Amino acid sequence: MIILTGASGGIGRAILSSLMTLDEVIAIYNKNPPEISGMTGVTAYQVDLTSESAVDDFVVGMKDKLSRITLIHAAALARQDRLAVQFKTEDWDQVMEVNLRGNFLLTRALLMPMIKEKWGRIIHFSSAAGMHVAPGTLAYSTSKTALLGMSRVLSNEYARFGITSNVLINGYFNAGMYQDLSEKAQKKLIDSIPSRQLGDPVNIVNAIEFLMKSDYVNGSEISIDGGL
Ligand SMILES: NC(=O)c1ccc[n+]([C@@H]2O[C@H](COP(=O)([O-])OP(=O)(O)OC[C@H]3O[C@@H](n4cnc5c(N)ncnc54)[C@H](OP(=O)(O)O)[C@@H]3O)[C@@H](O)[C@H]2O)c1
Repeated sequence: MIILTGASGGIGRAILSSLMTLDEVIAIYNKNPPEISGMTGVTAYQVDLTSESAVDDFVVGMKDKLSRITLIHAAALARQDRLAVQFKTEDWDQVMEVNLRGNFLLTRALLMPMIKEKWGRIIHFSSAAGMHVAPGTLAYSTSKTALLGMSRVLSNEYARFGITSNVLINGYFNAGMYQDLSEKAQKKLIDSIPSRQLGDPVNIVNAIEFLMKSDYVNGSEISIDGGL
């Protein structure tokens, strides 16, 4: 089964129907339930990833249903447009709580079922913003590069249990966070892409399918950014 966080976000919504064709999907959201009526094989669950008890309760509640887990960490928070000197502590904390701590809590809770089955796929969503210098995104960029460290440690610790951990470094897609940017910022980003085009989210689904099928691709990072 695929457990997708951020299922209600721009990218989550864009990939949900294609993920359905790969496996049963558990779609996790926080405040905005994803539109899943008419979709077979998708179940939505509200889980606030900043709450340890909510994460643990979700996994305990799912205990008897969990099998061949592909965990896709798409949930994230961005606080943009403030230079470091003005960056608010609460914004920093909120970003880290979702992007890193939430990822850690859910990964930790699902590792034991994966270990028992000797199979698991953990897929983190990083961002081109974390790889290239993106002023004004201090906390977001920091969290997105930190995921590379988290994924590499996981890939090493659990390889012997048939579990892989990899990172998709996403470029820019006409969805979610990208749409929240000003027109000026959007244009600047498009101008920086060699193809001058935003990505089609199908590229993300293709990479997920590849990682689901690959037991020897582990601790890797795949850039999906049009050559950015
Ligand atoms: N859009 C792009 O072009 C782009 C580019 C590079 C990387 N990415 C990466 O791709 C992923 C998805 O991005 P997006 O554009 O789809 O973002 P988005 O539209 O802002 O969606 C963010 C998602 O995170 C969820 N979330 C936030 N706080 C949460 C919490 N406390 N507990 C559980 N879920 C929480 C939101 O749930 P609710 O809505 O239910 O609150 C929502 O589903 C992110 O990891 C982002 O870094 C996106």
